[in-house]
Amino acid sequence: MADPLLTLSGVHTHIGPYHILQGVDLVVPRGGVSVLLGRNGAGKSTTLRTIMGLLKPSRGEIRFDGRLIGGTPTPAISRAGIAYVPENMGVFSDLTVGENMQLAATQGAFDATRLSWIKALFPPIATFWEKPAGTLSGGQKQMLAVARAIIEPRRLILIDEPSKGLAPAIVTAMTRALGELKETDTTILLVEQNFAMASALGDTVSVMDDGRVVHAGDMAELSGDAGMQERLMGLSLEVHQ
Ligand SMILES: Nc1ncnc2c1ncn2[C@@H]1O[C@H](COP(=O)(O)OP(=O)(O)OP(=O)(O)O)[C@@H](O)[C@H]1O
Ligand SMILES: [Mg+2]
Repeated sequence: MADPLLTLSGVHTHIGPYHILQGVDLVVPRGGVSVLLGRNGAGKSTTLRTIMGLLKPSRGEIRFDGRLIGGTPTPAISRAGIAYVPENMGVFSDLTVGENMQLAATQGAFDATRLSWIKALFPPIATFWEKPAGTLSGGQKQMLAVARAIIEPRRLILIDEPSKGLAPAIVTAMTRALGELKETDTTILLVEQNFAMASALGDTVSVMDDGRVVHAGDMAELSGDAGMQERLMGLSLEVHQ
């Protein structure tokens, strides 16, 4: 693939005595959405944490825009233009929605045009601006988490299971918002178990199992092949819609 934005080559990560990532090879092309699928415990979140520098790879290479970033401290990786929305969202409950947004804006003042765009993407951000984030519903918190990650333009955003625990209507709203974000020049690496959401947004897909990537290809190919889904993930589209 010509000049990808992010590549992991043979990445191993240990957590204490546990050998979690066992040679991950992953390519994220520039632009669009790359989806990372895999059963529970496959190593998807560990992969995102390793990219973000929260875990140090014990072996292998991570390149962002051609530069080696494996083992670089998290703040430097963030400054290079990578944002991360963790599984547990990282929202400050005691602060208002507005204060949560303010903390995410490293440049201090908001870019007014960008903030209006984000409020249009995620209406609850505007509605609950003065409310403590702790009073938001799960779906609204998830929207706030994504909104925080994109308050400044990012080259790459890593999002860990944004649909988790959300009602179908909220999943639809989140899918629409991420679809709009995809149209900007931000590249998205999306971990998602909701196959309907993954296939609606994804351009490419990688499937992990036991700490490795066991399949990489076009999302359209996997979406159209129930047998391949069954083989790779032990699930079918029907049961996951
Ligand atoms: N802090 C930790 N200490 C020990 N083992 C861990 C730790 N974090 C993760 N693991 C193990 O690493 C493996 C991969 O976990 P990871 O969270 O990356 O999986 P995942 O693919 O994100 O799963 P899920 O879909 O359930 O979120 C699992 O077996 C998990 O138990
Ligand atoms: Mg996970």
